[in-house]
Amino acid sequence: MTRLVGLKYHPCYLVSGVLPTLFSVEPKESLQDLFDREDEVRKLREGLSRERLILVLGLRRIGKSSLVLATLSSTGHPFVYVDVRRAYDDVSRRVPAERLYEELRSSLLRLSVRERVLEALRRMGVSLEYPVKVRVPAEEVRDSIAKAFDALNELGRVAVVLDEAQYLRYSTVGLRPLLAHVYDRLRNVTLIMTGSEVGLLHDFIGIDDPSSPLYGRYGLTIELRPFDEERSRQFLRRGFEELRVRVDERVIGRAVEELDGVVGWLVYFGRLYLEKGADAIDEVKEMGAKLVKKELEEALSRSPYYAHIMRAIATLGRARWKNVVDYVTAQLGRRVTNATIARDLRNLVKMGFIEKVNDEYRVADPIVRYAVLKWL
Ligand SMILES: Nc1ncnc2c1ncn2[C@@H]1O[C@H](COP(=O)(O)OP(=O)(O)O)[C@@H](O)[C@H]1O
Ligand SMILES: [Mg+2]
Repeated sequence: MTRLVGLKYHPCYLVSGVLPTLFSVEPKESLQDLFDREDEVRKLREGLSRERLILVLGLRRIGKSSLVLATLSSTGHPFVYVDVRRAYDDVSRRVPAERLYEELRSSLLRLSVRERVLEALRRMGVSLEYPVKVRVPAEEVRDSIAKAFDALNELGRVAVVLDEAQYLRYSTVGLRPLLAHVYDRLRNVTLIMTGSEVGLLHDFIGIDDPSSPLYGRYGLTIELRPFDEERSRQFLRRGFEELRVRVDERVIGRAVEELDGVVGWLVYFGRLYLEKGADAIDEVKEMGAKLVKKELEEALSRSPYYAHIMRAIATLGRARWKNVVDYVTAQLGRRVTNATIARDLRNLVKMGFIEKVNDEYRVADPIVRYAVLKWL
């Protein structure tokens, strides 16, 4: 059960004796706990019986993992869940094959139908008993991953979730041919890839690249958008009701205005409100900005101009191409080629930090904007 710092002594907690479910920080794992998203759940369920590769896309903290996990649990189908980000090594900036295998292995061991998979793998000469040794050549690890998919395919219908799959492009072994093989040959396996860096996931799959082994293969895309204003308010009201806390509508309104409909931020606000009251809004911004700072630093270190461009757009609120160029030129005291700025803007869109609406760029998430203004 979720541990909730600060809430334990809150009078409402003592009265109701329940820990919150709507405001829990882990991804939701049951449809009962999922607010809204009925359409997306239906699409995903239908896709599971029809499609072989499904993409679930949207900003960080928008509810991708929750949607996938809650929907899969509700179908009763066996599924394997691999958090690719966990396999990513910050230092080498790679996803070492053995770390990926380890994620897969531990997920296989949690399967309810584990014994059947283990048996199938044993026949193929693979044992899941021990973690793979670091010294094993990467190709061998990839072979084990391939066999794990073969074994899963023997179970009948099964889903394999690759969460935050854009990280697969940092894999030390080429996975696209392997995944293309899964797609083409393993008819019982449905791959579900989620991604917050939408453009980068598209690049990994190669949707614009006919030479990619995965080209033209994905069938269904589900895009999660932030809740609109009314939904966001409802979400907070319902969460507070669950905790039997009365919260002034004006506070709810302000929280939604500042945090927008990114459900992850609303969850943080809901939890912090119990300790801090209305100050929780600022608290979420501070805490969120710190979290985002780490994510930004990792991503923005890849070009010397990303930070300038982000600052331009965050400062201006909405910025046209020319505004960005002028701003960056003024900041640097020299011109950067149009091609360079165009490339970097495109990449920032791909990473999901900014979006382009009607020829104007804006920062997609209000906390990211806040973090840029504060830290960059
Ligand atoms: N539809 C939803 N209803 C209630 N809570 C949600 C919903 N979607 C996400 N959450 C909550 O929001 C936070 C972020 O969700 P998560 O699924 O981890 O997002 P993502 O995978 O997109 O980063 C978690 O606290 C999760 O419990
Ligand atoms: Mg997630």
